[in-house]
Amino acid sequence: MEKFVIRGGRPLVGEVTIGGAKNAAVAILPATILAGGVCVIDNLPNISDVAVSVRILAELGASVRMLSKTAMEIDTTHLRPEPVSDELCRQMRASYYFLGALLGRFGYASVAMPGGCNLGTRPIDQHLKAFREMGAENSVEGGYINLSTVNGVQEAHIFFDTVSVGATINAILAAACANGTVVLENVAKEPHVVDVANFLNTCGADIRGAGTDVIKIRGTKNLHGCEYSIIPDQIEAGTYMVGAALTGGNVLIRNVTPKHLEPITDKLERAGASVEEYDDAVRVWRSGEIQPVNIKTAPHPGFPTDMQSLMGVLLCRAAGTSIITESVWESRFRYVEELQRMGANIQVNGKVAVFEGVPELQAAPVRATDLRAGAAMIMAALAASGVTEIEDIEHIDRGYEDIVEKLTALGADIRRVEFVQSAGINQVG
Ligand code: EPZ
Repeated sequence: MEKFVIRGGRPLVGEVTIGGAKNAAVAILPATILAGGVCVIDNLPNISDVAVSVRILAELGASVRMLSKTAMEIDTTHLRPEPVSDELCRQMRASYYFLGALLGRFGYASVAMPGGCNLGTRPIDQHLKAFREMGAENSVEGGYINLSTVNGVQEAHIFFDTVSVGATINAILAAACANGTVVLENVAKEPHVVDVANFLNTCGADIRGAGTDVIKIRGTKNLHGCEYSIIPDQIEAGTYMVGAALTGGNVLIRNVTPKHLEPITDKLERAGASVEEYDDAVRVWRSGEIQPVNIKTAPHPGFPTDMQSLMGVLLCRAAGTSIITESVWESRFRYVEELQRMGANIQVNGKVAVFEGVPELQAAPVRATDLRAGAAMIMAALAASGVTEIEDIEHIDRGYEDIVEKLTALGADIRRVEFVQSAGINQVG
């Protein structure tokens, strides 16, 4: 097993380049199934969720070849619509995109139940509702979700009961080759939803309205391969922005879309950081005190839930009281207990957490309770006095590429250390 060992107290200073968006990549990789040809996907992040998606494609018969550190050629011409195994699906949430993609191309799909971060109940009723309205019967047998249609995906007008990124993307995937037009209302507007639609349109699909409340998809059977570059990761960028603000550093964050960062930039500026925007970069620094801010998470363009724990760490050090309201996931304050070990003063009551700023965080042994909570613990450790050890870091590797290398280049003292766990005692190996 591995853990991070971090000596805190050094400001992050320098430049960092952001990778491709995880939540776009894990949807665009299954979407290559619909192309039924050769796709070259660039700006792929080097993270374990991407590796799992590629393994699923390969198991289904796609041929896959790395062209560079970030570019991959994927040929789905001879891909077979076989069941997607439990072993791989359990490793990430986004394995559910194979449902929409296989259904869209072949008219049926069988995919094991998805895994991913434990953020409380994670229903997929809206995905299944969309598939049903497009003519797919669904059943769950032996841990597999099975979808089948009589003559492929049919036209439909779907109104989602709740705004869901996954259900919106899954419905787009299923509808791209439909026999007719599919209209989706009350959809998610996240940049990665738009990116998936842009990728499919580059493959010859006819998808309009992504990024607004209504998406219209005119199904076509004539999709083909294409070359496509994934958008930069908004949350990885936000993570380094918080790191710069928290440690009182100064970081130029390259390969970003500043427009996608606006909800994060706004809160950071209110918290006393300075943010300068360029065409495809932002610079973040802080010289004064951290100011308290209130935050309520919401679907895009609201404040992203995936940044909630990271802003939480920053607000632990604010000069006053901040309130964070989590309105997307029911269990996204599990990191609070870890921060309390480091001296944070936080009270959680259901969906609301009250952060009383403290002058200092101190090192402690902590865990990454999920992906973003893990990144938040890294940031807390960078700002804390002493040496913090973070376990369960496989969550972090699911979504952050080269995090040790990137932070080291910014002046952080962070090491990845192997250890063996025996009878509750950790031995550094
Ligand atoms: C995506 O998850 C992201 N994951 C999550 O990022 C992110 O937190 C979330 O969107 C919200 O932005 C991927 O893109 C792979 P949702 P997803 O469906 O699609 C409810 C990260 O850290 N809901 O938008 O699974 C649900 O319970 C991860 O990178 C239903 O009720 O989220 C939640 O309250 C973690 N029924 C809300 O909608 C459904 O059928 C939003 O969920 C689906 C969702």
